[in-house]
Amino acid sequence: MENLAWINSEISNLAEAKVSLEDRGYLLGDGVYEVIRVYNGCTFYLNAHLERLHHSAGAIRIDIPYSDTDLKKAANDLIIKSGYKDCYIYMQVTRGIARRDHIFPEGITPGMVMYVRPMTPLPDIEEVSPASCITLPDERWLNCHIKTVNLLPNLLARQKAYEAKAIEAVLYRPGNIVTEGTRSNVFALIDGAVCTHPRTNLILPGISRQIVIDILHETETPYEETAFTVEDLKKASEVWLTSTTLEVNPVSEIDGEIIRGNVPGNLTLMLMKKFREKIALECKGD
Ligand code: PDD
Repeated sequence: MENLAWINSEISNLAEAKVSLEDRGYLLGDGVYEVIRVYNGCTFYLNAHLERLHHSAGAIRIDIPYSDTDLKKAANDLIIKSGYKDCYIYMQVTRGIARRDHIFPEGITPGMVMYVRPMTPLPDIEEVSPASCITLPDERWLNCHIKTVNLLPNLLARQKAYEAKAIEAVLYRPGNIVTEGTRSNVFALIDGAVCTHPRTNLILPGISRQIVIDILHETETPYEETAFTVEDLKKASEVWLTSTTLEVNPVSEIDGEIIRGNVPGNLTLMLMKKFREKIALECKGD
């Protein structure tokens, strides 16, 4: 089994894979990305990730030089050749290679890379550790719906969370409005209704967020895509995070204030279970 990279159609060992120093992704953060989970050797919600990759690339005026059929084939080749069953695919597209300039260079081809790395499968639902979170001001730009490789504000907030022994920093905008986590979307059960920030430019439209919304819809659980505050969050009866790597992760405490005595709530448990059912359905393996 081997970590592999795919760079503009060439496959090589990940440790040996190289991109140019003048790639604008490296010099200027001029690119967008996706992280796609693979279970049982099968990609999970690959179409939705590709659709979001196109939106992100389009928003920064990059045309991806490969068809979705090519990208799916490349991702599947990487999975098969790597030999991994539980892994993730990282995909990134940048504006390309050119002499450093803030102006978009003309006539260059965007650079596309992917790689595959193994992932430890998450434990059984009962064993998933509820996450402690801290809250921090959301210092990002106003285009958080674009999944750009410019992640510095996320990294700085995540590092503060790590140093505070927390799993995630929940970010808030003026008015203490909760937007999302540094690498996850945030849901809260407040006064009997599930709330999550509306799908605007202030959050990433998470694929896992949408899966959870679909489950809420399918189970006729009341939910609202509506703004709520840090104060509302701390009073919530259940809080959970969603992301490709965390799936549905219960939150145990926020800024040291315990949510539900540290135990995942029934609704969170139901969502974790249904999320796993969707994985089992889509990623049956051979
Ligand atoms: N992050 N919000 C932000 C800011 C994110 O970076 C992510 C995912 C999410 C959840 O999106 P999804 O459900 O589509 O994974 C929300 C990925 C996993 C990462 O950067 O590693």
